Amino acid sequence: MQRQPLVIANWKMNGDRHLVASMAEALRESAAKHPQVDVVVCPPAVLLPAWQQAAFYDNLKLGCQDVNEHGHGAHTGEHSVALVQEAGVSVALVGHSERRQFYGDTAERIAAKVNTLQASGMTVVLCVGESAQQREQEQTFVVVAQQLHDALQHVEQCSNLVIAYEPVWAIGTGLTASPGQAQEVHAFIRNWLSDKFGPAGANLQLLYGGSVKADNAEQLFAQADIDGGLIGGASLVPEQFVAICNAAQ
Ligand code: G3P
Repeated sequence: MQRQPLVIANWKMNGDRHLVASMAEALRESAAKHPQVDVVVCPPAVLLPAWQQAAFYDNLKLGCQDVNEHGHGAHTGEHSVALVQEAGVSVALVGHSERRQFYGDTAERIAAKVNTLQASGMTVVLCVGESAQQREQEQTFVVVAQQLHDALQHVEQCSNLVIAYEPVWAIGTGLTASPGQAQEVHAFIRNWLSDKFGPAGANLQLLYGGSVKADNAEQLFAQADIDGGLIGGASLVPEQFVAICNAAQ
């Protein structure tokens, strides 16, 4: 079964209203070239209202870069699922390596966020990936399997789940995984999901992230188990991001 191509922009802590306007215009103009591709933009939370006002087209959705696992309350600076849904968000990244490394996303918190998001019906994009040292020590599959287990051990149905494989050594470095390297891990992830969830798991969308650019996207997306990308730096440049969306068609 052909899976829906999906391309997600992770703006991280970048962008402004001008970029929202120029990116929305570029995506609107190019939508006809990638009608089969679902596109999600995850801007900084403060730019979500600007994106809500930008003219939309059907395949474009809003996402957030993280959520707090609690429903509401004394969590200064955090955003609950209900609050991001107020801003029109329907997709959430969870467990990005930068949050794991710098902002206290432990395996327990990531699992709690997944469970909270699953209950809300939002689409959960779970990020997994190994460090350079773990790859050099041939621990990639062990690390990725552990991250999947820790995050999904309480999950019984996977209908609103997407997995993003982001080798940490490829994020923001220009050192993109080769199509073969990425495909090998994606195939492993698909088998792991099939073992846990059966056919539904085997058919989940798997995204690659880590220095995806306009000039390498097509080769990556041509791989059997790569259904799209999670894009950082290149998603801040309208012509680059549009080219990547076109490559996913
Ligand atoms: O979440 C996507 C991001 O981590 C990838 O960043 O700049 O390597 O595309 P970049």
